[in-house]
Amino acid sequence: MKTVHTKAAVRAEIAALSGRGEHIALVPTMGFLHEGHLSLVDRARQRADRVVLSIFVNPLQFAPDEDFERYPRDLERDAALAEARGADLIFAPPTDEVYGDAEPEIQVVPGRMADRLCGAFRPGHFQGVLTVVAKLFNIVQPAVAVFGRKDFQQAVLIQRMVRDLDIPVDIDVAPIVREEDGLAMSSRNAYLGPDDRERATGLYLGLDAARNAFQAGQRDAAALRERVVAALTARNVEPQYVELVDPATLDAVQRADTGHVLAVAAFVGRTRLIDNMVME
Ligand code: PAJ
Repeated sequence: MKTVHTKAAVRAEIAALSGRGEHIALVPTMGFLHEGHLSLVDRARQRADRVVLSIFVNPLQFAPDEDFERYPRDLERDAALAEARGADLIFAPPTDEVYGDAEPEIQVVPGRMADRLCGAFRPGHFQGVLTVVAKLFNIVQPAVAVFGRKDFQQAVLIQRMVRDLDIPVDIDVAPIVREEDGLAMSSRNAYLGPDDRERATGLYLGLDAARNAFQAGQRDAAALRERVVAALTARNVEPQYVELVDPATLDAVQRADTGHVLAVAAFVGRTRLIDNMVME
Protein backbone atom coordinates (compact mmCIF):
# COMPACT_ATOMS: atom_id res chain seq x y z
CA MET A 1 0.00 0.00 0.00
CA LYS A 2 1.32 3.41 -0.97
CA THR A 3 0.81 6.74 0.76
CA VAL A 4 0.83 9.75 -1.56
CA HIS A 5 0.72 13.42 -0.65
CA THR A 6 -0.02 15.26 -3.89
CA LYS A 7 -2.99 15.48 -6.24
CA ALA A 8 -0.69 14.64 -9.16
CA ALA A 9 0.51 11.46 -7.48
CA VAL A 10 -2.96 10.29 -6.49
CA ARG A 11 -4.26 10.99 -10.00
CA ALA A 12 -1.38 9.03 -11.53
CA GLU A 13 -2.06 6.05 -9.25
CA ILE A 14 -5.79 6.17 -9.98
CA ALA A 15 -5.27 6.54 -13.73
CA ALA A 16 -3.21 3.33 -13.69
CA LEU A 17 -5.96 1.47 -11.81
CA SER A 18 -8.84 2.89 -13.84
CA GLY A 19 -6.96 2.13 -17.04
CA ARG A 20 -7.18 -1.50 -16.06
CA GLY A 21 -10.93 -1.07 -15.67
CA GLU A 22 -10.87 -1.22 -11.89
CA HIS A 23 -13.55 0.56 -9.90
CA ILE A 24 -12.43 2.83 -7.10
CA ALA A 25 -14.08 3.37 -3.74
CA LEU A 26 -13.13 6.42 -1.69
CA VAL A 27 -13.25 6.61 2.12
CA PRO A 28 -12.74 10.26 3.15
CA THR A 29 -11.46 10.75 6.72
CA MET A 30 -9.62 13.21 8.92
CA GLY A 31 -7.44 10.38 10.25
CA PHE A 32 -6.66 9.13 13.75
CA LEU A 33 -8.40 6.03 12.52
CA HIS A 34 -10.57 3.84 14.72
CA GLU A 35 -12.82 0.87 14.13
CA GLY A 36 -15.58 3.14 12.78
CA HIS A 37 -13.33 4.35 9.95
CA LEU A 38 -12.02 0.83 9.33
CA SER A 39 -15.55 -0.53 9.00
CA LEU A 40 -15.93 1.91 6.09
CA VAL A 41 -12.84 0.36 4.47
CA ASP A 42 -14.47 -3.07 4.82
CA ARG A 43 -17.61 -1.83 3.07
CA ALA A 44 -15.58 -0.04 0.42
CA ARG A 45 -13.77 -3.28 -0.39
CA GLN A 46 -17.10 -5.00 -0.95
CA ARG A 47 -18.24 -2.24 -3.29
CA ALA A 48 -15.20 -1.73 -5.53
CA ASP A 49 -11.92 -3.25 -6.74
CA ARG A 50 -9.66 -0.71 -5.07
CA VAL A 51 -10.00 1.35 -1.92
CA VAL A 52 -8.52 4.83 -1.56
CA LEU A 53 -8.55 6.30 1.95
CA SER A 54 -8.02 10.04 2.26
CA ILE A 55 -6.66 11.58 5.43
CA PHE A 56 -6.99 15.33 5.61
CA VAL A 57 -7.86 17.51 8.59
CA ASN A 58 -9.83 20.08 6.65
CA PRO A 59 -9.36 23.60 8.06
CA LEU A 60 -12.36 24.86 6.09
CA GLN A 61 -14.81 22.93 8.29
CA PHE A 62 -13.45 24.18 11.63
CA ALA A 63 -14.48 27.50 13.15
CA PRO A 64 -11.65 29.63 14.60
CA ASP A 65 -12.63 28.62 18.16
CA GLU A 66 -12.77 24.91 17.34
CA ASP A 67 -10.18 22.14 17.67
CA PHE A 68 -8.37 22.25 14.30
CA GLU A 69 -4.95 22.74 15.90
CA ARG A 70 -5.32 20.06 18.56
CA TYR A 71 -7.21 17.55 16.40
CA PRO A 72 -5.32 14.24 16.88
CA ARG A 73 -2.98 13.24 14.04
CA ASP A 74 -0.86 10.10 13.58
CA LEU A 75 -0.24 9.26 9.94
CA GLU A 76 2.14 6.37 10.59
CA ARG A 77 -0.33 4.56 12.80
CA ASP A 78 -3.19 5.32 10.39
CA ALA A 79 -1.25 3.91 7.44
CA ALA A 80 -0.52 0.67 9.30
CA LEU A 81 -4.19 0.27 10.32
CA ALA A 82 -5.50 1.06 6.84
CA GLU A 83 -3.07 -1.31 5.18
CA ALA A 84 -3.92 -4.15 7.58
CA ARG A 85 -7.57 -3.59 6.68
CA GLY A 86 -6.94 -3.83 2.95
CA ALA A 87 -6.84 -0.22 1.76
CA ASP A 88 -4.88 0.11 -1.49
CA LEU A 89 -3.82 3.74 -1.38
CA ILE A 90 -3.70 6.56 1.15
CA PHE A 91 -4.02 10.15 0.00
CA ALA A 92 -2.72 12.40 2.78
CA PRO A 93 -2.13 15.86 1.37
CA PRO A 94 -0.81 18.84 3.33
CA THR A 95 -3.17 21.81 3.58
CA ASP A 96 -1.48 23.89 0.86
CA GLU A 97 -1.68 20.98 -1.59
CA VAL A 98 -5.46 21.04 -1.23
CA TYR A 99 -6.07 24.78 -0.96
CA GLY A 100 -2.94 26.54 -2.20
CA ASP A 101 -2.34 29.58 -0.03
CA ALA A 102 -5.94 30.77 0.36
CA GLU A 103 -9.46 29.51 0.94
CA PRO A 104 -11.18 28.60 -2.32
CA GLU A 105 -13.09 31.52 -3.80
CA ILE A 106 -15.77 29.14 -5.11
CA GLN A 107 -17.30 26.76 -2.59
CA VAL A 108 -20.25 24.39 -2.25
CA VAL A 109 -22.91 26.35 -0.38
CA PRO A 110 -25.59 24.12 1.13
CA GLY A 111 -29.18 25.20 1.59
CA ARG A 112 -31.23 25.34 4.76
CA MET A 113 -30.75 21.62 5.57
CA ALA A 114 -27.28 22.70 6.69
CA ASP A 115 -28.72 25.24 9.14
CA ARG A 116 -30.39 22.60 11.29
CA LEU A 117 -28.99 20.29 13.99
CA CYS A 118 -25.19 20.70 14.10
CA GLY A 119 -25.34 23.42 11.44
CA ALA A 120 -27.19 25.74 13.81
CA PHE A 121 -24.23 25.62 16.19
CA ARG A 122 -21.41 25.34 13.64
CA PRO A 123 -22.09 28.00 11.01
CA GLY A 124 -20.12 27.33 7.83
CA HIS A 125 -19.16 23.83 8.94
CA PHE A 126 -21.08 21.95 6.27
CA GLN A 127 -19.99 24.36 3.55
CA GLY A 128 -16.43 23.41 4.49
CA VAL A 129 -17.29 19.71 4.51
CA LEU A 130 -19.11 19.74 1.17
CA THR A 131 -16.39 21.82 -0.48
CA VAL A 132 -13.62 19.43 0.52
CA VAL A 133 -15.70 16.34 -0.30
CA ALA A 134 -16.48 17.74 -3.76
CA LYS A 135 -12.76 18.39 -4.27
CA LEU A 136 -11.88 14.87 -3.14
CA PHE A 137 -14.48 13.45 -5.51
CA ASN A 138 -12.94 15.42 -8.37
CA ILE A 139 -9.39 14.43 -7.48
CA VAL A 140 -10.06 10.72 -6.96
CA GLN A 141 -13.13 10.28 -9.21
CA PRO A 142 -14.39 7.25 -7.32
CA ALA A 143 -17.36 5.14 -8.41
CA VAL A 144 -18.42 4.85 -4.77
CA ALA A 145 -17.71 6.84 -1.61
CA VAL A 146 -18.42 5.45 1.84
CA PHE A 147 -19.49 7.60 4.80
CA GLY A 148 -20.62 6.77 8.32
CA ARG A 149 -24.05 7.26 9.77
CA LYS A 150 -22.37 8.57 12.91
CA ASP A 151 -22.23 11.95 11.14
CA PHE A 152 -25.86 11.72 10.15
CA GLN A 153 -26.41 15.27 8.90
CA GLN A 154 -23.14 15.16 6.96
CA ALA A 155 -24.19 11.93 5.21
CA VAL A 156 -27.60 13.39 4.34
CA LEU A 157 -26.04 16.56 2.92
CA ILE A 158 -23.48 14.65 0.87
CA GLN A 159 -26.23 12.46 -0.60
CA ARG A 160 -28.12 15.63 -1.39
CA MET A 161 -25.07 17.30 -2.94
CA VAL A 162 -24.41 14.46 -5.41
CA ARG A 163 -28.08 14.44 -6.31
CA ASP A 164 -28.49 18.20 -6.71
CA LEU A 165 -25.18 18.71 -8.55
CA ASP A 166 -25.31 15.47 -10.59
CA ILE A 167 -21.99 14.27 -9.24
CA PRO A 168 -21.53 10.72 -10.55
CA VAL A 169 -20.53 9.10 -7.25
CA ASP A 170 -22.59 6.46 -5.52
CA ILE A 171 -22.85 7.30 -1.80
CA ASP A 172 -22.87 4.42 0.66
CA VAL A 173 -23.74 5.11 4.30
CA ALA A 174 -22.47 2.65 6.92
CA PRO A 175 -23.86 1.92 10.40
CA ILE A 176 -22.41 3.47 13.57
CA VAL A 177 -19.64 1.47 15.22
CA ARG A 178 -19.77 1.71 19.01
CA GLU A 179 -17.57 0.94 22.00
CA GLU A 180 -18.73 -1.90 24.25
CA ASP A 181 -20.67 0.51 26.47
CA GLY A 182 -22.40 2.08 23.48
CA LEU A 183 -20.34 5.25 23.02
CA ALA A 184 -20.08 5.96 19.30
CA MET A 185 -16.45 5.71 18.21
CA SER A 186 -14.89 9.05 17.33
CA SER A 187 -11.39 10.42 16.95
CA ARG A 188 -12.48 13.08 19.45
CA ASN A 189 -13.05 10.42 22.15
CA ALA A 190 -9.26 10.63 22.57
CA TYR A 191 -9.86 13.99 24.30
CA LEU A 192 -11.96 12.42 27.06
CA GLY A 193 -10.42 11.88 30.51
CA PRO A 194 -11.75 8.90 32.55
CA ASP A 195 -14.54 10.95 34.17
CA ASP A 196 -15.77 12.48 30.93
CA ARG A 197 -15.45 9.12 29.18
CA GLU A 198 -17.93 7.68 31.69
CA ARG A 199 -20.28 10.67 31.33
CA ALA A 200 -20.13 10.40 27.55
CA THR A 201 -22.13 7.16 27.62
CA GLY A 202 -25.18 9.34 28.37
CA LEU A 203 -25.66 10.08 24.67
CA TYR A 204 -26.03 6.44 23.69
CA LEU A 205 -27.94 5.41 26.82
CA GLY A 206 -30.44 8.22 26.26
CA LEU A 207 -30.93 7.36 22.60
CA ASP A 208 -31.29 3.68 23.46
CA ALA A 209 -33.90 4.48 26.12
CA ALA A 210 -35.77 6.61 23.58
CA ARG A 211 -35.72 3.85 21.00
CA ASN A 212 -37.02 1.38 23.58
CA ALA A 213 -39.83 3.81 24.38
CA PHE A 214 -40.58 4.15 20.65
CA GLN A 215 -40.68 0.38 20.32
CA ALA A 216 -43.06 0.25 23.29
CA GLY A 217 -45.40 2.60 21.43
CA GLN A 218 -44.32 6.10 22.47
CA ARG A 219 -44.83 8.43 19.50
CA ASP A 220 -44.57 11.84 21.13
CA ALA A 221 -41.33 13.50 20.00
CA ALA A 222 -41.08 15.59 23.18
CA ALA A 223 -41.32 12.45 25.33
CA LEU A 224 -38.65 10.68 23.26
CA ARG A 225 -36.32 13.68 23.41
CA GLU A 226 -36.87 13.85 27.16
CA ARG A 227 -35.37 10.33 27.52
CA VAL A 228 -32.13 11.63 26.04
CA VAL A 229 -32.15 14.84 28.09
CA ALA A 230 -32.74 12.78 31.27
CA ALA A 231 -29.82 10.42 30.56
CA LEU A 232 -27.54 13.40 29.95
CA THR A 233 -28.72 15.43 32.92
CA ALA A 234 -28.21 12.40 35.18
CA ARG A 235 -24.55 12.57 34.13
CA ASN A 236 -24.26 16.32 34.44
CA VAL A 237 -24.06 16.76 30.69
CA GLU A 238 -25.96 19.59 29.05
CA PRO A 239 -27.24 18.78 25.58
CA GLN A 240 -26.64 21.29 22.79
CA TYR A 241 -29.63 19.89 20.91
CA VAL A 242 -31.84 16.82 20.97
CA GLU A 243 -34.06 16.63 17.89
CA LEU A 244 -36.29 14.07 16.24
CA VAL A 245 -36.12 14.67 12.49
CA ASP A 246 -37.32 13.39 9.18
CA PRO A 247 -34.10 12.24 7.44
CA ALA A 248 -35.34 13.41 4.03
CA THR A 249 -35.68 17.05 5.07
CA LEU A 250 -34.00 17.26 8.49
CA ASP A 251 -37.16 19.02 9.65
CA ALA A 252 -38.15 18.38 13.27
CA VAL A 253 -41.26 16.24 13.71
CA GLN A 254 -43.77 16.19 16.58
CA ARG A 255 -45.00 12.63 16.04
CA ALA A 256 -42.43 9.87 15.71
CA ASP A 257 -42.63 7.40 12.87
CA THR A 258 -40.46 4.50 11.74
CA GLY A 259 -37.37 5.87 10.00
CA HIS A 260 -37.26 9.15 11.88
CA VAL A 261 -33.89 9.92 13.42
CA LEU A 262 -33.26 11.09 16.96
CA ALA A 263 -30.06 13.15 16.95
CA VAL A 264 -28.09 14.62 19.83
CA ALA A 265 -25.06 16.84 20.35
CA ALA A 266 -23.53 17.63 23.74
CA PHE A 267 -20.37 19.03 25.23
CA VAL A 268 -18.81 16.60 27.68
CA GLY A 269 -16.27 18.84 29.33
CA ARG A 270 -14.62 20.64 26.41
CA THR A 271 -15.36 17.82 23.97
CA ARG A 272 -18.30 18.11 21.62
CA LEU A 273 -19.86 14.71 20.88
CA ILE A 274 -22.68 13.74 18.53
CA ASP A 275 -24.77 10.61 18.15
CA ASN A 276 -28.05 9.53 16.61
CA MET A 277 -30.43 6.61 16.34
CA VAL A 278 -33.09 5.56 13.87
CA MET A 279 -36.50 4.88 15.32
CA GLU A 280 -37.35 1.36 14.20
P1 PAJ B 1 -14.03 11.88 10.21
O1 PAJ B 1 -14.66 12.46 11.43
O2 PAJ B 1 -12.61 11.40 10.28
O3 PAJ B 1 -14.92 10.69 9.74
C1 PAJ B 1 -14.64 10.03 8.52
C2 PAJ B 1 -15.80 9.08 8.22
O4 PAJ B 1 -15.87 8.09 9.24
C3 PAJ B 1 -17.16 9.81 8.20
O5 PAJ B 1 -17.93 9.33 7.12
C4 PAJ B 1 -17.74 9.41 9.53
O6 PAJ B 1 -19.15 9.42 9.55
C5 PAJ B 1 -17.20 8.01 9.69
N1 PAJ B 1 -17.24 7.59 11.10
C6 PAJ B 1 -16.69 8.24 12.16
N2 PAJ B 1 -16.97 7.59 13.31
C7 PAJ B 1 -17.73 6.52 12.97
C8 PAJ B 1 -18.36 5.47 13.70
N3 PAJ B 1 -18.26 5.37 15.03
N4 PAJ B 1 -19.06 4.53 13.01
C9 PAJ B 1 -19.18 4.62 11.66
N5 PAJ B 1 -18.60 5.59 10.91
C10 PAJ B 1 -17.90 6.52 11.55
O7 PAJ B 1 -16.34 13.09 8.79
C11 PAJ B 1 -15.23 13.53 8.54
O8 PAJ B 1 -14.07 12.95 9.00
C12 PAJ B 1 -15.02 14.75 7.65
O9 PAJ B 1 -16.07 15.64 7.82
C13 PAJ B 1 -14.83 14.40 6.16
C14 PAJ B 1 -16.07 13.73 5.57
C15 PAJ B 1 -13.58 13.52 5.97
C16 PAJ B 1 -14.60 15.73 5.36
O10 PAJ B 1 -13.53 16.43 5.86
